[in-house]
Formats: sequence, structure tokens, C-alpha cells
Amino acid sequence: MATINDNYLKLKAGYLFPEIARRVRTFADSNPDAKIIKLGIGDVTEPLPAACRTAMIKAVEDMGDRSTFKGYGPEQGYDWLREKIATNDFQARNCDIDASEIFVSDGAKCDTGNILDIFGKNNKIAVTDPVYPVYVDTNVMTGHTGEANDQGEYEGLVYLPINAENQFIADLPGEKVDIIYLCFPNNPTGATATQDYLKTWVDYAKANGSIIFFDAAYEAFITDDSLPHSIYEIDGAKDCAIEFRSFSKNAGFTGTRCAFTVVPKTLTAKRSDGSDVELWKLWNRRQSTKFNGVSYIVQRGAEAVYSDEGKAQVKELVNFYLENAQIICNELKNAGFEPYGGVNAPYIWLKTPHNLSSWDFFDKLLQTTNIVGTPGSGFGAAGEGYFRISAFNSRKNVEEAMKRIKTQFKV
Ligand code: MLT
Repeated sequence: MATINDNYLKLKAGYLFPEIARRVRTFADSNPDAKIIKLGIGDVTEPLPAACRTAMIKAVEDMGDRSTFKGYGPEQGYDWLREKIATNDFQARNCDIDASEIFVSDGAKCDTGNILDIFGKNNKIAVTDPVYPVYVDTNVMTGHTGEANDQGEYEGLVYLPINAENQFIADLPGEKVDIIYLCFPNNPTGATATQDYLKTWVDYAKANGSIIFFDAAYEAFITDDSLPHSIYEIDGAKDCAIEFRSFSKNAGFTGTRCAFTVVPKTLTAKRSDGSDVELWKLWNRRQSTKFNGVSYIVQRGAEAVYSDEGKAQVKELVNFYLENAQIICNELKNAGFEPYGGVNAPYIWLKTPHNLSSWDFFDKLLQTTNIVGTPGSGFGAAGEGYFRISAFNSRKNVEEAMKRIKTQFKV
């Protein structure tokens, strides 16, 4: 008789964003006239940059001509895209990353989950709390945890609380951990990491033989020149970190799908007999077997992000969402809230008023203003009492949402 992966039964409720969508559908069904504005999931609303569209149209034409047609591409991505990424995103910032260390994929979400394939079952895993829920759920699915307690914390994971008191920057763990997930600019809090802060993690990881999973999906939103965009800007990070990047939030590829993961060739971890194994080789093997690459058309679109025209258009898109974030922060302050983030990040994090629980605030905001946000508790137990607002929407919707909050919601 077929059996299931019992670990799936440990997962709490549905995945956060589908659960929000379900609640919003229920509300919309019973309030058909409500003009709902969604500032929940961080999904882009603005059209793809013209440079990317032009490149993809040309790529479609290539596919229609026998001489330029492409079948299976390299599982790691086409060299011309990997070269552009290595040059522009890393070497231009003095990070010694080679094109062969870049693995093009269809999403940072998938890669942060899939990467667990090449790691052992007995690693001690640390996550911040709150945290992007994919990191936790994929560890649960893989069997790296026990059951969850009433607060939704899984046995076996090390939770590093982040809150207003520590400026949403986690302290180093009091115990030795093998794998640490860091996300900067942070989802959900919008917090950023300085060079010095990341250096403390790199030093910790090197001293303890740990690996950092560094999610930099939001690096394009960094406006402060002193902040690092990549963990490889920190000395020694090539020996202890894997970095995840995405074209979703900078170039609006959430529906187009393209991302990449950097696995330096110098990075090793232990096999069970204690000897070192290069993680690059394992990830390359994993991708070659389980993945057939991103479509030629989409990779050509991603390549165009690095053209002069593409760079200017991406900058404009990012600035547009950052201006939204600024409007949201200002208006929330005017309405009596205390917002965090939103300066080097597209997310605004706030304390719920009147000690409302995150979901109670979600319901109240939806009912009184027809605005959808994301309950902080969906990102972990320490997110309870907080709420996330996304800056990914049209200007018109952002302004309308803020007007409703000011006029219809009493803090
Ligand atoms: C979010 O809203 O946290 C993100 O859109 C989720 C994601 O990128 O998968």
C-alpha cells in the first residue's frame, strides 16, 4: 500500500498566501460591491520592462527559425546569462563570483526549498522569527523538524526572534547551528543588514562550520550605498554562504519566472565520514537530474535586464515601488501607526493597534477599509501582533488605500 510523507501532516493550516486569498474570496463573495485593494502578497503590478519584452519577442522569433531554434538548454542556465549576472551583480561589486557558480532557475522560492536536497537530515537549522514561511515549511516537509507547538513553533528548529527592540536584527544563536537562513532586505520586516552585521554571521559560520542561506531577492531595493547587496561583499562569505536572487521583484518577473542561486566552488560541507564535499558538485548534480532549465525565451528576457536600457527601466520600476512604500509609511504615520521598513525594501511592517492579534487586525482592516495585508503571525510566532503591507501595487491603489485607512480606520 502506498504511504505518504508524514511530515506534510505536521504543517500548520495552508500556506500563508493561499490562505489569505481564500479569506479574501469569502469576503468578496458576501460583499460583491467591495472594492478590495490587495497589499498582501508581494506580487508586482507594473508591466515588464520594455527591454525584456523586446528581447523575449526576438527570442520567440528565434524559436520559429530552424537555424536559431533551441531545444533543451543547459540545466544551469545559458552561459550568456550567467556571464552577465556574474559581471554585473557580483564582479562589479568586487565579489569574486564566476559565471560557473551561478545556477539559473525558475524561482528563489523553489531554490530555497530545493537546496535542502543536498543537505543531511541532522543539521541544526536556525531561522529568524518572523521569517519567510517557505524556509520553515520546506524544512518541515523534508523531515528536519518535530511537531509544532500551539504557537506554531516546530520542535528542532532554532528560532531567532526579531522585533522592534532589536531593530529586527537577530542576535547570533546561543547554541551551535549548522544552517542559518538570512534574508536582507528582509521579508517581512523590511530591515536591512550592514557590512559589519553580516560579517558577524560570516565569522560565526566559519567558526562553526555552518552554511548561511542568504536570500537577497530584494537587494535591488537598497537605496543606502553603505549597505551590502550580496553576502559575497563580506570577506570569507565564499566559504560559508549560498545566495539566492530573483528577477521577480526588480524586473517584475513574478509571472515570467527567472531567478538564480550562487553556489561558490570553494564551499564545502561534511559527509558522514567527516571528509569535505564541494556543495557546487552536489547542486550541479541535483539540478542536472531534477531540473531542465528556464526557457530560452525567459532567459533572453532576463539577460535584457543587464542592458543599459534594461538597467534604466528596472531602476524606474524599483523607484516606483519605493515611492509607494514612502507614501504608505508617511500616511501610516499620519494615521497614528508606527511603521518599520519601507525605505530599502518594498515591505512595511507595523504593530497592530489596540493589541489586536494579527488575524483580527487583518479581518478588521478588510471589513472596514476593504484593504488586504498580511498578518504578521503568518510569518512566525514572534510576528503575532504585527502586520505587513506590501508596496507592490499601482499608485492609484496605494493612494486610495491610504486615504481609506486615514478616513475609515481609527487607531
Ligand atoms: C511575499 O509576499 O512574501 C512574497 O511575494 C512571497 C514570494 O516571493 O514568494
